[in-house]
Amino acid sequence: MSITIDENRLLSEIEALASFSDAEPPAVTRIVFTPTDLKARAWLKARCEEAGLTVCQDAVGNTFARWNGSNPSAPVVGAGSHIDAIPNAGKYDGVVGVLGGLEAIRSLRQSGFHPTHPIELLIFTAEEPTRFGIGCLGSRLLSGTLSADAARKLKDNDGATIDEVRREAGFGGELEEVKLPNGYYKAFVELHIEQGPLLERQTIPLGIVTKIAAPASLRVLIEGAGGHAGAVLMPDRHDALCAAAELILVVENAASTTGASDTVASVGICEVFPGAVNSIPSRVRLSVDVRDTDLQRRDGVVRTIEAACDSISDKRQVSIQSELLNADAPADCAPAIIEALSQSCRKHELNFIPMVSRAYHDSLFMARIAPVAMLFIPCRNGYSHRPDEYAAPEDIVRGALVLAETLAALSK
Ligand code: GLV
Ligand code: MN
Ligand code: MN
Repeated sequence: MSITIDENRLLSEIEALASFSDAEPPAVTRIVFTPTDLKARAWLKARCEEAGLTVCQDAVGNTFARWNGSNPSAPVVGAGSHIDAIPNAGKYDGVVGVLGGLEAIRSLRQSGFHPTHPIELLIFTAEEPTRFGIGCLGSRLLSGTLSADAARKLKDNDGATIDEVRREAGFGGELEEVKLPNGYYKAFVELHIEQGPLLERQTIPLGIVTKIAAPASLRVLIEGAGGHAGAVLMPDRHDALCAAAELILVVENAASTTGASDTVASVGICEVFPGAVNSIPSRVRLSVDVRDTDLQRRDGVVRTIEAACDSISDKRQVSIQSELLNADAPADCAPAIIEALSQSCRKHELNFIPMVSRAYHDSLFMARIAPVAMLFIPCRNGYSHRPDEYAAPEDIVRGALVLAETLAALSK
């Protein structure tokens, strides 16, 4: 069996998918269940059907494109990722795993390979937290990490619930039906750009992920007292933004003083109300994102931040409410799939290193119900979540080739 990845087809599809965007090129913004996302989904579904795959979608819009093996009831060998993109993102995050996965499956079909196990491409709904505040919505529901009841309580910034927006987008059925049965997967493999600089720095074409770091996030609402920026004297103020500023520095300090470079924390959203030049900020909303490969250390940082909310609130006489949106455990990748990926690299004489994923991925949640592993390719300067995110064609092709080889080995 000789596998040939069609580079031109794959690259032109990556460009085509990037054209479904609510931002000016080269930036890509594709928020789940927006008209743009729905157009991108329709385009992608047509590509999967064109490739001879049978497409079905669940109640939250997770999309499965299936190639039945000679034993259709055998556990599935899956590949996939996401196509939603945060505001002002690039064109490769998630997309390389989806279109690279599709190309891997097409290349196997064209090579004359016949799988025993079904091979399925899975396009997850809302890996990014942009709309509903938590990431990996689709894979949390598939794995049962998030219950249907808890999902129904999530709202977007306009107050719309998941049930409202998914039904409006054409995805009916009940959220209870999204969870996959135990044993559904034999294996799941996610191809992704590294989103960090290590492969590029070491000029190594591939990374095999052995562990995915544990993410947590909090939403913090600070309410102080507004007023006239000229008339209210300094001793009388309860400035919500000044309290937020103190808290943001606590977040930075808590992560940088654990003594481990694996601990990271960021405040990515700071909304100030009323946002007028001559008005004291009365209300601030912050989002806090904390990650670590070590769960205890990550939780220690979260506790420090929560304690700081109380002490800053006392000191400044402002109200600070923090809500822990998610605090997930890390995941270990499955040795058997790591080995299958390693063998595929060796077969094609491609150098690789084991890696930790500091970004989260749907595989973090799929690991709760299936043996998973991830394959990373380099991206320029390690840039991701920005418009100049870039992966070189030869790296994308190598990733798709190793993925194809691995899907073949696992589905025999
Ligand atoms: C995924 O997009 C992440 O934030 O790690
Ligand atoms: Mn992302
Ligand atoms: Mn991603």
